[in-house]
Amino acid sequence: MNILFCTSEAYPFVASGGLADVCGSLPHAIQKNGSQCRVVLPLYSSIAAQYREKFTYLTNFTVAVGWRNQYCGVFQYEHEGVIFYFLDNEYYFKRSGIYGFYDDGERFAFFARAALEMLNYIDYAPDIIHTNDWQTALVNLYINLYYRHLPKFYNIKTLFTIHNIQYQGKYGLDMLEDTLGINRKDSYLIEFEGCVNYMKAAIECADKVNTVSPTYAQEILDPWFSHGLDSLLRARTYKLNGILNGIDIAQYNPETDLYLKTNFGVETVKKGKAECRADLLELFDLPKDTDTPVIGMVGRLVSHKGLDLVRHVAEYMLQEGIKMVMLGSGDYTYESFFSELAARYPQQFSIKIGFLPEVAHKIYAGADMFLMPSKSEPCGLAQMVALRYGTVPIVRETGGLKDTITDSGDGIGNGFTFKSYNAHDMLDACLRAKAAYTDVQNWETLVKRDMACNNSWDARAKEYISLYENMLALW
Ligand code: GLC
Repeated sequence: MNILFCTSEAYPFVASGGLADVCGSLPHAIQKNGSQCRVVLPLYSSIAAQYREKFTYLTNFTVAVGWRNQYCGVFQYEHEGVIFYFLDNEYYFKRSGIYGFYDDGERFAFFARAALEMLNYIDYAPDIIHTNDWQTALVNLYINLYYRHLPKFYNIKTLFTIHNIQYQGKYGLDMLEDTLGINRKDSYLIEFEGCVNYMKAAIECADKVNTVSPTYAQEILDPWFSHGLDSLLRARTYKLNGILNGIDIAQYNPETDLYLKTNFGVETVKKGKAECRADLLELFDLPKDTDTPVIGMVGRLVSHKGLDLVRHVAEYMLQEGIKMVMLGSGDYTYESFFSELAARYPQQFSIKIGFLPEVAHKIYAGADMFLMPSKSEPCGLAQMVALRYGTVPIVRETGGLKDTITDSGDGIGNGFTFKSYNAHDMLDACLRAKAAYTDVQNWETLVKRDMACNNSWDARAKEYISLYENMLALW
């Protein structure tokens, strides 16, 4: 079986969030399980020269973007056994950053059409095209509108993965013909509530749709989570699935992680974590005492990550003696609130603003607990990384957090959880974790149990393969 993975980001080439981790690691896991998986992504100018200079030029062609014809070059690079295609157009992708431009809708319409057009020019015939989030959603539509009549495309099935339903690719209807080249008679496939909506187009046109955890697949049928798409999805539940993400256990391995002060495994966790903890506190300029726990947070500073809850009770947590380190960037309201908090509690709270992988790894390894109080969390990868590094997750029971973390109150769980989106419920979970931390023997047992949790891609890649197989059996 041949798969073509379409994505707007993939680690290690270009990354802004969890999407890149998944698209950089799942294709390898699929290949390890016996299918061929290749990946196509834009050739952004921000891709590091160390990779770019090894890319080989394959071919070029022109791509229709509404009434325009745009150049597209194709470069190829094999990374750890997986072939990546990079689509080149400097007008669209030679920019400082990957998203956030006035013409993102046009840029990713070009990319979607170019990814399909490429198949007319290269020697690869996918059985499945697997698209991810709104940026590649139009592939699912364009294949039906413009490519089905070509033999190479007759039998291709498409899977669309929703990594986050909040970002749908919504634009004005004026884009329909001018930019997207979609005839009025086909507009029902992409029009939703008075807008062009790329994600709706994929949900309509893909053979199967999945999300990145079973719980999120249920949650998005509810208006509280769906950002407007629940009615559409409820009518399509026959094609909706949920498959948990995995993590790359080689990339996130405390025994070999080059960012850590001291590497450690289950047997050496006590000493190793203590040294990583001291290193972390030094980096964040906090005192190194060990009697109170350090809670770490890593992620985008945006509302759905549950930062309002933290904002509401942070001072109380600090007054209880908890120390906190935070890494991320995002909305000004959170950046400024938490920076101000750090200024007022310099002995207990510290924040670094940015997307800094080295600091993130130091938090995964050096913190005692890892807090993710998300309002919604399609899957979440950081809690799985935290487990692997023996850092006990405190999470809200939503999406993938619910599917990967269970409360340890019963003596078998791997973290601390709370249900309602309520600041004091979160506080209670943090205080329970703090109390558990003082029971040194039991805490160590919990840490070791966490490190033994298996969130590798292996079993989950097999679930994808059987989903692909089911799709091929569809009429
Ligand atoms: C998005 C989601 C996150 C998920 C990631 C990878 O970033 O917000 O929960 O883990 O995609 O699927």
